[in-house]
Amino acid sequence: MRSDANIAGPMTDPVPGPRTESAGEDVSRETPPPMDDTPIGRAAQLAVEALGRAGEGLPRPEQTRVIVVANQKGGVGKTTTTVNLAASLALHGGRVLVIDLDPQGNASTALGIDHHAEVPSIYDVLVDSRPLSDVVQPVPDVEGLFCAPATIDLAGAEIELVSLVARESRLERAIQSYEQPLDYILIDCPPSLGLLTVNALVAGAEVLIPIQCEYYALEGLGQLLRNVDLVRGHLNPKLHVSTILLTMYDGRTRLASQVADEVRSHFGGEVLRTSIPRSVRISEAPSYGQTVLTYDPGSSGALSYLEAAREIALRGVDVQYDAQHAHALPEISQHDQHSMQEGIQ
Ligand SMILES: Nc1ncnc2c1ncn2[C@@H]1O[C@H](COP(=O)(O)OP(=O)(O)O)[C@@H](O)[C@H]1O
Ligand SMILES: [Mg+2]
Repeated sequence: MRSDANIAGPMTDPVPGPRTESAGEDVSRETPPPMDDTPIGRAAQLAVEALGRAGEGLPRPEQTRVIVVANQKGGVGKTTTTVNLAASLALHGGRVLVIDLDPQGNASTALGIDHHAEVPSIYDVLVDSRPLSDVVQPVPDVEGLFCAPATIDLAGAEIELVSLVARESRLERAIQSYEQPLDYILIDCPPSLGLLTVNALVAGAEVLIPIQCEYYALEGLGQLLRNVDLVRGHLNPKLHVSTILLTMYDGRTRLASQVADEVRSHFGGEVLRTSIPRSVRISEAPSYGQTVLTYDPGSSGALSYLEAAREIALRGVDVQYDAQHAHALPEISQHDQHSMQEGIQ
């Protein structure tokens, strides 16, 4: 496995040829991994090997790790990260469940899971107390990977939950009653901090925040971190930010490295060494109902998610979040704090 700190570096700018991301054709999916000694050739081989090695991979956690992928900003890579990390962890040998908690259902789409209005979904679990096992579906093509899909019904759940008993802990209860053995549960949150996200934060112990390497990357993060503090204080003492992942990293721009430096100086140990490069393959995969791991296993995007998953698996739950970091970031506004507190009362 690669040991260099940042897979995004040389791999965002691959040499021209049929295996590059900008080649535009699907050549790389059909072509066997090259046996040459270039970094890309070796990397591709590594990914393909990992793909063929389900069941043998990394150490499995003693207990199910529930990881909440959250950031109230849209378009930062939450869904992309959820599905590709989940697929990577499954390919590394884990049993992994993705819970789609966004009414858009993008994670369900990306995993090739049917989620039209009649499909039993996470809405039924949250609002009608249906068992999670009724809605979980196996993901085609990736052994050990499962998905609880979201349908458009979920858009109403934010309001319907308000009047229900234990409205903040309905997802947690559903997970606790789920009897199938799992190594990881990854929850894909909507781009807001309402009751759906609160349910995720109550259900999980770990928060993974994807940060897009763009201007304003840190804006709003203070608010998210304060919300994590609020949920930890009121509802879930074990909750902590365990992981920050830099996404859509373009090693050619100075801005990306400046953002990365800033994020690392704020968060230090929580930031994964691996960052995810901006990659056409990553953005194409969902339209085929696939993760990048099956769509183009040799691409830099696939490799970076495999490596990020490896880091997460090896770190276990040892990395504790230092709450002081939150206070160095912009303060949560009075209004947002108020609406959040309403959500968790
Ligand atoms: N590393 C990446 N390279 C290129 N495009 C990406 C990458 N990560 C995400 N995208 C694209 O950016 C958009 C937003 O990503 P998404 O995961 O849906 O964000 P969120 O769930 O936070 O709203 C999508 O179109 C997705 O395909
Ligand atoms: Mg999303």
